[in-house]
Amino acid sequence: MKRNWFVILVSLLTLLAVTLAGCGGGGGGASTEAGLPKLTKKDKYKVGFSQVESNNPWRLAQTASMQEEAAKRGYELVYTDAAGSEAKQIADVDSMIAQKVDLIFLAPRSEKPLAQAVLKAKAAGIPVILLDRNVDQTIAKPGQDYIGFIGSDFIEEGQRAAEWLVNATGGKATIIELQGTVGSSPAIDRKKGFDDFIKDKPDMKVVASETGDFARDKGRQVMETLLQAHPDVTAVYAHNDEMAIGAIAALEAAGKVPGKDVIIVSIDGSKDALQAIIDGKLGATVECNPRFGPKAFDTLEAYANGEQIPAKIINPDKFYDSSNAAAEIANAY
Ligand code: AHR
Repeated sequence: MKRNWFVILVSLLTLLAVTLAGCGGGGGGASTEAGLPKLTKKDKYKVGFSQVESNNPWRLAQTASMQEEAAKRGYELVYTDAAGSEAKQIADVDSMIAQKVDLIFLAPRSEKPLAQAVLKAKAAGIPVILLDRNVDQTIAKPGQDYIGFIGSDFIEEGQRAAEWLVNATGGKATIIELQGTVGSSPAIDRKKGFDDFIKDKPDMKVVASETGDFARDKGRQVMETLLQAHPDVTAVYAHNDEMAIGAIAALEAAGKVPGKDVIIVSIDGSKDALQAIIDGKLGATVECNPRFGPKAFDTLEAYANGEQIPAKIINPDKFYDSSNAAAEIANAY
């Protein structure tokens, strides 16, 4: 609690400092009332990367990809880790503004609070590219408040998970859904994609749907609780691999056999998930590719060159099940 107040105070002071400094962005970024801040062409940039958290292999792979690509191009990367806190992530963006970075890559924890951070960066003359998660489009818009979004099609990921589960269960399942972080675009869209796909399949029943915050431990705890209320569960849809692996642990602790008594599908494509498929515990995982580095920095350079950037740049995602997990595991993160 105390820490949150401290973060809010630091955030307000930083914003005040930025405002008093005349809203000056870094690297020749010029704030324009209506349009996006510009990015002056340079050989080397100082860029910010605001990460959500570092508690899972997906996030670690994304950070490594961004750091490797910045190093390859000789750019300075100002990296922050919000440790799963929206208040800290807002303060992190404020700090990047104060450090006058040329551009901010932002992986926003949730849609609404971080949309305000996008507007602050714009007001300070610093362009923003959203990585992997989106912000609320009624508050901040691509091509106007931020350059654009690079990431997966989360709705499609949810649909692909649902399609696999319908086939694997013959269209009849009692499902527990483990949602991602509340208010985050992957949690919202993965739920929507899944629900849309099963809505005309009356025997595919979601009997419980709760957040496990994209974390393994939380996924296990939530699954333990939900199992007591729904011991008849036959399928689990987890919004990411970490929660699926947590759910596998909870099922085993309850004496159930994952992959037999309960069929599990998730999203990400991590090494642990592919191993769980090989072990017969996880049925399938839809890839959500975390390797953003090359595309993120190419997009920055294209923007500096004056090229038109699409509102959404969608990463193509693979799909892993028992047919390819063993062949693909060496490339997984
Ligand atoms: O935004 C992408 C999601 O966030 C990934 O599925 C998850 O593992 C991560 O934390």
